[in-house]
Amino acid sequence: MQVIHTIDELRTVLKPCIRQGKSIGLVPTMGALHDGHAALIKASVAECDVTVVSVYLNPIQFGKNEDLDKYPKRLEADAKLAESIGADFVFAPTNEEMYPEGDPLTLIRDESLESLYCGAYRPGHFRGVLTVVAKLFLITGANHAYFGEKDYQQVFIIERMVRDLNFDIQIHRVKIVRDSTGLALSSRNEYLSDLERSQALSISDGLRKAKEVFDKGEQRVAVLRDLVIKSILANRGQVQYVEVVNQKTLQKINGVLRPDDRFVILVAAFFGKTRLIDNMELN
Ligand code: PAF
Repeated sequence: MQVIHTIDELRTVLKPCIRQGKSIGLVPTMGALHDGHAALIKASVAECDVTVVSVYLNPIQFGKNEDLDKYPKRLEADAKLAESIGADFVFAPTNEEMYPEGDPLTLIRDESLESLYCGAYRPGHFRGVLTVVAKLFLITGANHAYFGEKDYQQVFIIERMVRDLNFDIQIHRVKIVRDSTGLALSSRNEYLSDLERSQALSISDGLRKAKEVFDKGEQRVAVLRDLVIKSILANRGQVQYVEVVNQKTLQKINGVLRPDDRFVILVAAFFGKTRLIDNMELN
């Protein structure tokens, strides 16, 4: 496996693969890889001839007061993990390589969804994500890309971008990976103290309870949301949002759920200074 830092070099090694008709799988990451990323890489390795894992902490998707500076960085360990799973290339560009002229003037936006849920609290975040993901698609020429469902809104918006802009790439969603306690894996879990980590289980506990009552027939959105909110508040978490949304449109549902639609609960909450997101499909 090769670690590559420049766009030219990556294109040079991938060109022959593309010419030979090999399928290229891209796993975009910001590094600090964990078992959730491992599941994405595994899926790509199993389905594609060539797997590229990008490790790039994209500054333009972080707000001024967010955790860009403290985000964990460990390229060597990331490369070892990617190699052990069978990835062919790790692409780890510098900011100068990705944005040689400074902040890009051309940005990709989702006019409708970028201001909902996470986007409401992280202005500009999804513009930064879509722009870097589009760049990675164009740089690699990948035909497959793998994203985790923990970032449910992100993968939804990326799928929409692919349809809107006719990217010739298939997006694969990979289920959330949880640790043995139920906590959804995230590079940001590393910020949690032991106490906060145990308190943060209240997110997945609340989601599980909501799913249980939904499975027993509960259709009132307020009841489902309250279960999650109360679970988080009882464990000293601060709720940013808990919403029940339609899986197909990502539009928020109020009132009562219609039996013929599909729903997911989206959550963002703080434990101490750490912001965590999670979600659970109800059906
Ligand atoms: O989900 C992430 O890690 C990032 O948002 C992504 C998709 C790698 C873009 O920087």
